[in-house]
Amino acid sequence: MSQIYASFKSIGAYVPEKILSNADLETMVDTTDEWILKRTGIKERHIAADDEVTSDMGAKAARLAIDRADIDKEEIDLVLCATVTPDYFNMPSTACIISDKLGIKNVQAFDISAACSGFVYLLTVAKAFVESGMKKNVLIVGAEKFSSIVDYTDRSTCILFGDGAGAAIISATSKKEEAFVDVHASADGSYADFLVTPAPGTVNPVSQKVLDEGLQYVQMKGNETFKLAVKTLTKDVKEILAKNEINSDEIPHFIPHQANYRIIKAVGDALKMKEEQVVLTVGKYGNTSAASIPMAINDIWESGRLQNGELMLLDTFGGGLTWASALLPFAGKAK
Ligand SMILES: CC(C)(COP(=O)(O)OP(=O)(O)OC[C@H]1O[C@@H](n2cnc3c(N)ncnc32)[C@H](O)[C@@H]1OP(=O)(O)O)[C@@H](O)C(=O)NCCC(=O)NCCS
Repeated sequence: MSQIYASFKSIGAYVPEKILSNADLETMVDTTDEWILKRTGIKERHIAADDEVTSDMGAKAARLAIDRADIDKEEIDLVLCATVTPDYFNMPSTACIISDKLGIKNVQAFDISAACSGFVYLLTVAKAFVESGMKKNVLIVGAEKFSSIVDYTDRSTCILFGDGAGAAIISATSKKEEAFVDVHASADGSYADFLVTPAPGTVNPVSQKVLDEGLQYVQMKGNETFKLAVKTLTKDVKEILAKNEINSDEIPHFIPHQANYRIIKAVGDALKMKEEQVVLTVGKYGNTSAASIPMAINDIWESGRLQNGELMLLDTFGGGLTWASALLPFAGKAK
């Protein structure tokens, strides 16, 4: 029997219409366009409509990914969603709701929680399901309505985040040249307080205290997170390249998590990446957490920059703390 490999067949994304610019934020908190641009590289971010929920955005991205993979939705046998801003915090999962919105019936569906690392974590899960022979076509979705947990009076966080979704189809193949080269994911819960949304949950069930203290909003130790992100990502990406005996100049598309331009620049410089190798969307989308990497992949696909067989190097870092990297060829059709 021939070996089965996981391959990255297609990409899709959805960006909500409404734009929140730095100029808009200047009217909401004590900040300036200049400060935000200099410290983060972010010019604007997109915000979902009031009645637009995470599964709506995820389903829109997923429809594109399914169409572009040239498969019928009936061929999908697993639906996975990475989000920390689910439609419902307890149940049902956003993956179940996305499946229903797409008319995908009777297949396994569940969410994972790995914050900004969610999409690359999903690659590890999809790979395991496909390469064990349990599933053939996995729909993976990273979708976030981060604006629903952002305190728009807190200037240290509200400037960073945006909403959106990205999706991909991961399929079984017997062709080694289409296979994921490597994926790696890790976590360290001792840094849990670096990025935390204190409520709702068993630590802080919904109560008047939660609302009075704003515990439903994301809290972040920004500077500490920044420093650890640069250190961890640089080490992680160097390791995955060394392990697979690939030089950074052989990577046409370095697609890092889009949290902060300065983090991306520091890691890119440490790897001696040239500007044209590094995919940058943080300026126009901000940090969209689990949606950030697939939205960035979609950007280069839609602009015709991503060709069949080209290697992508992904790296990400987020709440948990979690981090992950992946090295894989794009096994789908170019635009
Ligand atoms: C949030 C972040 C942009 C802040 O930049 P920084 O250079 O670390 O700035 P600091 O937090 O040290 O704050 C420096 C000063 O700017 C101020 N400041 C914070 N936000 C500000 C804003 N939006 N506008 C103006 N000033 C601001 C602070 O109050 C502080 O003032 P002080 O020196 O008078 O106390 C940066 O730490 C960051 O991007 N961290 C990583 C965040 C991240 O990626 N999180 C998600 C991981 S997936």
